[in-house]
Amino acid sequence: MSISIKDIREHFFEVCNWVDPANTWDQIMFGRPEQVVHRIGTGWMACWQNLEAAAADGCDLFIAHEGTFSGLWAPTLRCEDTPWAQKRMRILKENSMACINLHDTWDNFPEYGIRDSWRKFLGLGELVEERPYFYPGENRFTVRNSLTLNRVQRQTLEEFAASLAKACRVFRSFQGATVYGDLGSLIEMAAVGVGCHIPLLEMVSLGADVLVLTFDRAFQTTIRVPLGEMNANMIVVEHGVAEMPGMQSLAEYLPKAFPGIEARFYCHEPAARTVV
Ligand SMILES: [Fe+2]
Ligand SMILES: [Fe+2]
Repeated sequence: MSISIKDIREHFFEVCNWVDPANTWDQIMFGRPEQVVHRIGTGWMACWQNLEAAAADGCDLFIAHEGTFSGLWAPTLRCEDTPWAQKRMRILKENSMACINLHDTWDNFPEYGIRDSWRKFLGLGELVEERPYFYPGENRFTVRNSLTLNRVQRQTLEEFAASLAKACRVFRSFQGATVYGDLGSLIEMAAVGVGCHIPLLEMVSLGADVLVLTFDRAFQTTIRVPLGEMNANMIVVEHGVAEMPGMQSLAEYLPKAFPGIEARFYCHEPAARTVV
């Protein structure tokens, strides 16, 4: 049975009926809906390093989580006009490789999505509470429960941070986990989110002993210093690191949902090191 880009997109919108197909980041960035695909590359971002690696493996579709051409680069410049975006597009065109985004659907896709893949990747236990994330600037909550409070085996903050760092080391763009709080304090409940949907004071009040945050949203000014003033334990990682387990799961999920499809996860986002 041949599988088209349209079939793939329809499947995700069917399962994730909380996402409006007409009002979502989950669009075709390059390619035609009726294009038949066989081998799919998945990755957090459609950076040229991921695209080049997927194209070299013969992928005819790349599925990125974050927007391929989104974001403001400069006030007078459209993202598509930047040298890096043009390089991405050149690789897609030269290799006739289509590119789509699965962001809003995949964040909370049952079991395999970003939220539950991150929980599983960190080895978290029973899900005790779940809550939506509140967008501070937009005065609204997420439709789904992005935030979870999870039981973990009783351990110190230092032990928990060390096991998180050990797990995340598989990704080149992991540059360490930044820890705030008393390293010797005991952890029994950990709150995690979905990428930039990060757990905050509500999760502390529900019993979180540690909040796992991402730098892209946990600003030092508005989030980390105030939480530090409240003596909250925090572990902060890069946005991509927290979502890569989910894109790895997508590569596992696709052949199950679409027999005959091959899929592989790519994480060639630029490597980082913290020098202390
Ligand atoms: Fe996400
Ligand atoms: Fe994200």
